[in-house]
Formats: sequence, C-alpha cells, structure tokens
Amino acid sequence: MSGLIPQHFIDELIARADIVEVLGHRIQLKKAGREFKACCPFHGEKTPSFTVSPAKGFYHCFGCGAHGTAISFLMEHDHLTFVEAVESVASMLGVDVPRDESQRPTRKFDELFELTRKIELDFQAQLKNHQPAVDYLKARGIDGATAKRFGIGYAPSGWSHLLDKFGTSKEATERLLAIGMIIRKDNGQHYDRFRDRLMFPIKDSRGRTIGFGGRGLGNDEPKYLNSPETVLFHKGRELYGLYEARQALRNIERLVVVEGYMDVVGLARHGIDYATATLGTATTDEHLNRLFRICDEISFCFDGDRAGRAAAWRALENALPQIRDGRQIRFVFLPDGQDPDSYVQENDASAFEKEVHEAVPLSDFLINELCAQVDMSSVDGRARLAELAKPLVSRIPAGVYKELLIERLADSVGLSASKLDTILAKDVPATRQDKQTATTRLRSRPQGGTGKPSIVRRAITLLLHHPEAARKLHVERLAGVTKPGTDLLRDLIETVHAEPNMSTAGLLERYRTHEEGRHLGKLAAVEIPTAEDFDAAAELTDCIGQLELAGERERISFLIEKERLSSLSDDERGELRGLGRSSA
Ligand code: UTP
Ligand code: MN
Repeated sequence: MSGLIPQHFIDELIARADIVEVLGHRIQLKKAGREFKACCPFHGEKTPSFTVSPAKGFYHCFGCGAHGTAISFLMEHDHLTFVEAVESVASMLGVDVPRDESQRPTRKFDELFELTRKIELDFQAQLKNHQPAVDYLKARGIDGATAKRFGIGYAPSGWSHLLDKFGTSKEATERLLAIGMIIRKDNGQHYDRFRDRLMFPIKDSRGRTIGFGGRGLGNDEPKYLNSPETVLFHKGRELYGLYEARQALRNIERLVVVEGYMDVVGLARHGIDYATATLGTATTDEHLNRLFRICDEISFCFDGDRAGRAAAWRALENALPQIRDGRQIRFVFLPDGQDPDSYVQENDASAFEKEVHEAVPLSDFLINELCAQVDMSSVDGRARLAELAKPLVSRIPAGVYKELLIERLADSVGLSASKLDTILAKDVPATRQDKQTATTRLRSRPQGGTGKPSIVRRAITLLLHHPEAARKLHVERLAGVTKPGTDLLRDLIETVHAEPNMSTAGLLERYRTHEEGRHLGKLAAVEIPTAEDFDAAAELTDCIGQLELAGERERISFLIEKERLSSLSDDERGELRGLGRSSA
C-alpha cells in the first residue's frame, strides 16, 4: 500500500484511540486516580514512574522522559513503522486506513458517520409503518414534532433488518459491526443488535449520529439497550440531548442533567429544552467539562427515593473538583416515585421549572447529608462530621467557594473556620498526598533556568492541555511578538483553528517528528494545577494579551531606537504616535 495517510484521519484516530487499551495489552498498567501507572518499559526500574493519561491520550515516563501517544508507543515498543502503528491502532478500532492517493481522500470515519445517518433515517421511515410503535409514543405523550426533533425511529423485529439492507458486502458488514449495530456470533454469522425497539439516535456535538438507545415497547428486558462503546461512541463523554438543546436554544443559561432518554424527550415536549442525560453511567469529569463549557449553572435531577439520593451523592463527589467561583451546581429531588418525565406529564412545565429554581445548592446538600450521618448533638458527632468532610473538601479547588463552605462547616461543628481549616488540612488521605507531592515536585523543577516559566511556555502548556481553549484566539494578536517559542505557539493555535476537535495526543502526534516534539511532550506531562480556580480559555486569552502587550513594547523600543538614530520613516512616526508615544 502506498499513498499518504490523511492527517485528518490520524487526528481522529488518535482522539478516539483508547491508549489504556493499546498499552494495556503490552504492559501491566495499574490505575492511580485518573491515570494509570506502570514500570517503564523503556528503562529498567522497580518503582513505576511511567504514567498514562487516558483523558489526554498520552504517556510520559518521569524517569527516562519517554513519552508519546498510542502510535509512538507501538513504534518504540513493538518496533513498528509509523504506517504499521497507525494500521494496528485502526484495526483495534475496526476502521480501515484511508490513503490519499487521489486528490479527494475517502475518510473512513466519514463513511461510518454516513452509515449511522442512513440507519437513523431508515429507523424513522420504519416508525411510520409500525403502528404499535407510534401508539406507544403517543401513549407516552410524545407528539410528532418532538419525535422528529429527536429523530426517534423504530428498529423492526427480525434478526437481519439492518444486515439485509446495509450489510451487502463484506466491507459493509464490517462497518455495521464497527458501529455496534450488528453482533457477530461464534460461527462468524451476524445478527441485528436492536430488534423491535423504539430508537433514540445519540448525537455528538456536531449533530452526527454516533450511537443509539433502544427502548423495548413492552416489558421485555432489558428496558433500554444502548450502542456499545465504539470508535464513534464513548459513553463517558457523550450526553444525550445536548446537541438538540443547543439547536433549540440560542442562549443556554442552565442545563439540567437527568437520568433517561425519555426524561429529556418528555421535558422537551413540554418546552423545557435544557435537559440532557448521561447514558446509563455516572457523570464523569469529561461530561462536566463539556457542560461547564456551555454554561455556569448545572442542576442534577434525581428521583426523591434512596436510589436517587445515592446517585445524587455520586454526582456530587464527581463534581467537587469542578467547583469554581461563579459556577453553580445544584440538585433537584423530585417526589418519591417520580422521574422528570412523569413529573412534567402529571404536573406541568412551570411546576418542573419551579423545582429547578428551588434546587438545593451543592453545599447545602453536602452539609445536610453529612449532618444526617452523625449525631450533631454530641461533641464526638461533630468531630466525626469534620472527619467525613475532610476528603470531600480536599477535592474542591481553592477559592472563595471553598472558604465559604469551610466557614459553614465550621459553624455546624462549632469551631472557628481557621481551626477547622487546620483540621481539614491535616492527614489528607495518602493518594491525595502522593499526588500533591508529585505536583509540587514537578512545579518546583527548574524551568529552563529562568525560574519563572515564560508566558509563551505557559500559553503552550495551557493549549496542549486544553486545545479547545484556543478555538477563539486571535492569532493576529501575536503579530509583533518575537519572543522565543512564539512561532510554535502561533502554529499550534492555527492547527486548532483548522481542526477544532484536536486532542492533546493529536497535537503531540503532529509534532512527533518535529524538533519541538520532545519539548511539547514534556509540557504535556506537566501537571496543570487544577487545584487552582482556573478557566483554561480565559488564562490562555490572558497570556495572549500579555504577549500582545509585550510585542507592543518591543515595537515601541524598536521605533524609539530608530527615532534616536533619526531614521524613522513618516509611517513609522505615525505608528509610534498611534502607540501612544508622541514623537516630536
Ligand atoms: P430508567 O429505568 O429510570 O428508565 O432508566 P426511564 O428513563 O424512566 O425510562 P422509561 O420512562 O421507563 O422509558 C434511566 C436510564 O438508564 C439507562 C437508560 O439510559 C435510561 O434512559 N438504562 C435503563 C439502560 O441503559 N438500560 C436499562 O435496562 C434501563
Ligand atoms: Mn421514566
């Protein structure tokens, strides 16, 4: 095979590859918080300093400095060529590697998206011909317009509806398999995954269908069947109804996270367009990151029963690291036995909205739950409350919110805030402590000799960790800047502009063969202290602002120097005046 592999494909492959799966087949990975650790396969060691970040898609060894993506790992570890490594990752994901032989490359991911779209349309057409499914929708209070908005369809009964229609060649069957719509039997035959179910297409942020949820019409188990994890669909990342919410609303002030497909659709039927659901999983960090990128007010809506409160508590724990001043995280508890769908049907939209307005702030929920677990009338009980709060509070980034929460907790236990603060600071659980010392160690490393990291370096680090934060940056603002590294920064920003979905690992992969590659790998491995109250896009914009100012200052001294030498042109004289330095 010859021909270049399109860059777009490599970006997408890297973004969608599960680095833990690729590396996990070859070395023994151990989970450590959000990351995985192992003894480095590239140098001899007894204590693990090799770290893998599944969220960012890369590995880094703090011992020998080895680092890279799934692709570079295969190249180094399995001694594959670049093309072989790409093919190996692609085959794990079940996609073919396209070649840029003609001027118009076929993008295989696009083929999969095309297929999911065709299937979605087919399911919608099937719905029209299947009265029991239409009746079911009606019985659940869903009108035609809402069904259409959400692209709801129907997968007919029988074992080979999709297979017959879309699996007409070996390649076509492989594609159906890759997107999880058919299942392969031991004997190599296939059958449709979804049969006799109402089908809810799940969209990504660009509105492309990446998977489906299927609800049985009767009481057959399982009630809901979801697409499996595929190359297109990651449950820990996707939220049902988020795309539709963004389509319906020009301005999203708040989002409500509910538990089910029918909750989202039922609420939308009643004009509440800002609901979104996780897909049968707990809310992940990635979910929250996505939600907070859209608005600052997130409410979780759960049933009022015990299961609901337990789910709410899990959501609270996951949300703690996401707390920032200015963000609101709240909890809606519906009456026992109700879910958002049934509640809005039985009452009405304004009743539901009222519940949302009266939602319990995270801090209240946290304190109330903890107080309920101890005997607040005894000294021991109140001391125990402080103990219970400790691991939770330690996960909240520093800031006004944290301070206020500590004050309130102090009130509850009858201590001064400073005293409680001291108690809370002591004996942080071991894993946290390890992580903190690791962070301190990293941060206190000499940074290129100058002590303070340069603004360019800070900007590049931020951009590597949060590529999406660079989407709206104006690269022209860097025009006058000549500081070392600015060209690279400019180049990175332009790369993100060209590929807005670029991931950290995707950027590293692009620069793997550049001189800067090594340097970028190191910056990507630096832990950005998320324990600070920070917003990557705002910080990055701030860095660019500082650089722009520095560029202006550079230009001014250049012009003044020229003026001193009496070699200033008329244009330059005007420019100098424009820059606020009147030139005599
Ligand atoms: P629920 O069981 O609360 O159902 O599941 P629901 O949303 O109220 O559904 P209806 O109203 O009976 O139609 C909540 C969510 O959990 C996941 C689905 O994502 C569902 O929307 N789930 C539930 C499954 O994945 N499989 C199941 O069998 C059940
Ligand atoms: Mn329900």
